[in-house]
Amino acid sequence: MAKTKTSFFCQNCGTQYAKWVGRCTACSEWNTIVEEIIQKEEKRNWKQSSTIKKASKPIKITEISLDEEDRINTHNNELNRVLGGGLVKGSMTLLGGEPGIGKSTLILQVALSIRKKVLYVSGEESQSQIKMRAERLNTINTDCLILTETKTQNIFAAIEESRPEIVVIDSIQTLYTDYIEASPGSISQIRETTAELIKFAKETATPVILIGHITKEGTIAGPKILEHMVDVVLQFEGDRNHTYRILRAQKNRFGSTAELGIYEMQNTGLREVENPSEILISEKDESLSGTAIGATLEGMRPLMIEVQALVSTAVYGTPQRSVTGYNIKRLHMILAVLEKRAGFRLGAKDVFLNIAGGISVDDPAIDLAVVAAILSSNEDEAIPQDYCFAAEVGLAGEVRPVNRIDQRISEAEKLGFSTIIVSKFNKIATKKYKIKVVLVSKIEEVFNALF
Ligand code: TYD
Ligand code: MG
Repeated sequence: MAKTKTSFFCQNCGTQYAKWVGRCTACSEWNTIVEEIIQKEEKRNWKQSSTIKKASKPIKITEISLDEEDRINTHNNELNRVLGGGLVKGSMTLLGGEPGIGKSTLILQVALSIRKKVLYVSGEESQSQIKMRAERLNTINTDCLILTETKTQNIFAAIEESRPEIVVIDSIQTLYTDYIEASPGSISQIRETTAELIKFAKETATPVILIGHITKEGTIAGPKILEHMVDVVLQFEGDRNHTYRILRAQKNRFGSTAELGIYEMQNTGLREVENPSEILISEKDESLSGTAIGATLEGMRPLMIEVQALVSTAVYGTPQRSVTGYNIKRLHMILAVLEKRAGFRLGAKDVFLNIAGGISVDDPAIDLAVVAAILSSNEDEAIPQDYCFAAEVGLAGEVRPVNRIDQRISEAEKLGFSTIIVSKFNKIATKKYKIKVVLVSKIEEVFNALF
């Protein structure tokens, strides 16, 4: 009889220990070490009798052939963009996100529209639950197979029988392999089942999409090594109270990680949002004080977003500063600059800042819109609705240039803005545009231009 082997794993970072310790030396977390049963004698191939398996030989890099056909069009433009052109054959893609954000919906929608034979393996929902969801999405791919199974050996048996072109696993935390006795979702199970799936994907050139849960800190649950093992790590995020969802690549071995896909959750599933600026600017009838539009970039795409500020007299002794979707340290810096360099008395005021649409931005080009929103709320005077901003603000109160300004200006022009305020130090051929480009070098000039 095989001897039961056990080992200790940190549930936070996946570090393995020979004996129990109170604190993980790798990630410094307390009480995260758990004993897990591991057994290692048997072979753990995705199938024992592999006919495809052969020892690989070194090849000259110039002789390796690359055909364009290696990417599978997912028929979902936003996903294609984030993946860098489509699913790569034999690739392992991990999709993470909070519960209920729409991971299963997104992948089922792709499975139903991809026009390939897909095997959708669910360890979380029953076949009829998935069918009910598919009815709501009302696109039906007759070649989409649904399997409810959590044991990898059975999944591989089903794969051999049905020979799918794409495999989806919902979710990696529910899978288990016979060769390890730890419970599903534990570090060693996640690592082993992923390794088996990777082996399968590479040997048969079948793309595998894994859905993964995330921890309360927002990282993918399981060992960090999971993210190293897969080819692509996608993150699906958004505010639960808003309908917009953002898909971004955290890691992509086949493309850029700067790209981003935007969806809107509707009754009939996720709608791809082709022109994101329209949804990020809140609808209102008249100009209100405290809002300003900033021209930012997410990846290669220009985005117009609305910054809202509320400046009011502090009721309690210490004024509050609160932000959603923006860096609070940056807000503190901007308030200090406004106080010191431009003489606005904001020290005794509460300042609240919000990026509309529930998204968060870290593009410094949004600074000027933040300044404008704060000043507008402070003066209680609205900024004309067809004005927008794109510049960074420096510590000396100077308005600094930002990258790819032409793209931002063109987007503003395309969306019908009449005026854009940018830094004087950006080299711009202002004549080229129909939109009025106002050049400023200091924040006082912005104030004078607006009020
Ligand atoms: P789901 O894909 O189950 O999330 P995850 O797999 O990330 O946990 O998404 C479920 C949410 O999406 C649920 O709260 C309802 C909502 N939803 C819609 O609003 N419209 C739809 O057509 C579908 C299928 C789901
Ligand atoms: Mg799900």
